Amino acid sequence: MSKNYKRTTITSALPYANGPIHIGHLAGVYVPADIYARYLRMKDEDVLFIGGSDEHGVPITIKARNEGVSPQQIVDRYHEQIKKSFEDFGISFDVYSRTSAPIHHETASAFFQKLNADGKFIEKSNKQYYDEESGQFLADRYITGTCPHCAYDKAYGDQCENCGTSLSPLELINPKSALSGNVPVLKETNHWYLPLDQYETWLTEWIIEGHKDDWKPNVYGQVKSWVDHGLKARAVTRDLDWGVKVPVAGSNGKVLYVWFDAPIGYISAAKEWSKKTGKDWEPYWKDEETKLLHFIGKDNIVFHCIIFPAMLKAEGSFILPDNVPANEFLNLEGDKISTSRNWAVWLHEYLTDFPGKQDVLRYVLTANAPESKDNDFTWKDFQARNNNELLAIFGNFVNRTLVLTHKYFNGIIPALGPTDAEAGRALKEIARFPGKIGSSLDRYRFREALAELMNLARLGNKFMTDMEPWKLIKTDEEKVKTVLNISLQIVANLSILSEPFLPFTSAKLQKMIKLNGVNWKEAGRVDLLRAGDKVNKPELLFERIDDKTIESQIQKLMDTKKENEAGTAVKPVKEAIAFDDFVKMDIRTGTILEAEKVPKTQKLIQLKIDTGIDRRTVVSGIAEYYKAEEIIGKKVCILVNLAPRKLRGIESQGMILMAEDTDGRLCFVSPTEAVSNGSEVK
Ligand code: 2FM
Ligand code: ZN
Repeated sequence: MSKNYKRTTITSALPYANGPIHIGHLAGVYVPADIYARYLRMKDEDVLFIGGSDEHGVPITIKARNEGVSPQQIVDRYHEQIKKSFEDFGISFDVYSRTSAPIHHETASAFFQKLNADGKFIEKSNKQYYDEESGQFLADRYITGTCPHCAYDKAYGDQCENCGTSLSPLELINPKSALSGNVPVLKETNHWYLPLDQYETWLTEWIIEGHKDDWKPNVYGQVKSWVDHGLKARAVTRDLDWGVKVPVAGSNGKVLYVWFDAPIGYISAAKEWSKKTGKDWEPYWKDEETKLLHFIGKDNIVFHCIIFPAMLKAEGSFILPDNVPANEFLNLEGDKISTSRNWAVWLHEYLTDFPGKQDVLRYVLTANAPESKDNDFTWKDFQARNNNELLAIFGNFVNRTLVLTHKYFNGIIPALGPTDAEAGRALKEIARFPGKIGSSLDRYRFREALAELMNLARLGNKFMTDMEPWKLIKTDEEKVKTVLNISLQIVANLSILSEPFLPFTSAKLQKMIKLNGVNWKEAGRVDLLRAGDKVNKPELLFERIDDKTIESQIQKLMDTKKENEAGTAVKPVKEAIAFDDFVKMDIRTGTILEAEKVPKTQKLIQLKIDTGIDRRTVVSGIAEYYKAEEIIGKKVCILVNLAPRKLRGIESQGMILMAEDTDGRLCFVSPTEAVSNGSEVK
């Protein structure tokens, strides 16, 4: 059972600073973490909400190399962009740090040193691929070769992207260095390992037995399966020149493994926050009365539930997470979100297309959050949730209430008069919402909590529709006062209870009803607004999103899909050949003199070509794409020194050069300017 804590430290996975942020990140990690942080702050609890950029790791060095810039330039660019996206979407970090910051290098270094000094690592030496020309050991991603499973010749040292198998560099056939193209050699290298096997008993007690009931089944299940399969020692250093240097004399060219330094980044961020605010960071990481929570996606479970806790345990002075409410993945229109295939809704692009509609996205991503299984984001669902829920239920109720208050009472809040059964029921119901929403949030059930919030808006709508103040005004103005007073109290409650989920809307709403400084504890009350005070004119909280807008988003994705399909059909580059091999080919320009379909074949045309050297017969498989009579007189390129071969009994004395489009269509490769037959193509 969760105990009573004094404060809460919330961490959210540090995104890699090698690309922008998309809806999957927001739905899986940052929106739920932000809702939780805001909820606790509204309850006046002591919270430290930590974020930052993960700026190390091999993919960043590869991106830098591909772009011809330094890794620091890459992370500087994306750190700023990511940070801005989070600010734009109201993710209310107390600190947003980065792992290239000096304070992080110092913290991670000291952490490693302590574990090393305390004998918590094993040092082992093994053989790894080394590129002699560039003088460095090769990270798995920097080695390519042929996959032993599917023969794909561009498999990486850690994975074959063709058949999906995880590989080790030593399994690759014909390995090559991506740095120089040379064949790497195996060389002995030394690394530090964290012996996870030594933590199995402790992990079993702490998680498998201790958190069976309070951790989410998807998280618990994954951890149990890892532990059941037996844990092995994990290398925590790498041969690389980008990262936190291994703080041991003689370890030049070695850095801490990115997954060793990144979670320590949460601690460094707390230190950075401490420097800025003058508050002590240590209780947030070391006091047993602090509740530590890690918000992450499912691909990070093993690191946050096994490896980082083992590191913290080994260090000895830190607390362990009380919970790790990891989410599953969000898909997009039925397909996995993918940065490399550009299959994503990027936050910066969303903001350009839907300015001011951050809360709509926050709402949709929470209502459809992948809490217990992978879920799908579709633009149609986005539209429906905006139009039928936010606009039709929440916005409509608020708008009707304020419009009528202005229409009948000049915007002055009317007093609550005698209440009939229906009004009494509504008043009682209101009081129950903070508890219901809070209880869902306490259990990290964000979808359920949001649904309850919407039920409060539904209650308001129904109350107003049942009471029909627009009719009642003709006969019973006193009762209308009561109806509007209650409706306004519901609006006030909505403005408080929606704050964690829809912070921009909540702020707008509170401005309209001139409510400020109220917190969660006051929600549920029905005297939040005082009779006699004046409310502002209503502004629209949500707007209808039309079909055209949605169709253009869908079209954008369809265009991406088409580009991807065309892109993937392009065949990979063949193995490199020497220049001498290339010049062995004798290619000339020529003219088709005669053409005739080869009888009883689908594809073959027999050609007579003037090669400038001679007139010769060539058989070509182009009949599906050209009629014989159309191509007479055409200029072509022909390989004239290809050994003759017989096709359907006809000797073909060369080969016409054709380009094959991604859809398999063939087209002539012809000179575009006048050139005499027999000219060499080189
Ligand atoms: O998966 C990722 O995007 C990692 N950059 C998350 C790191 S979380 C933490 F350990 F810093
Ligand atoms: Zn393969």
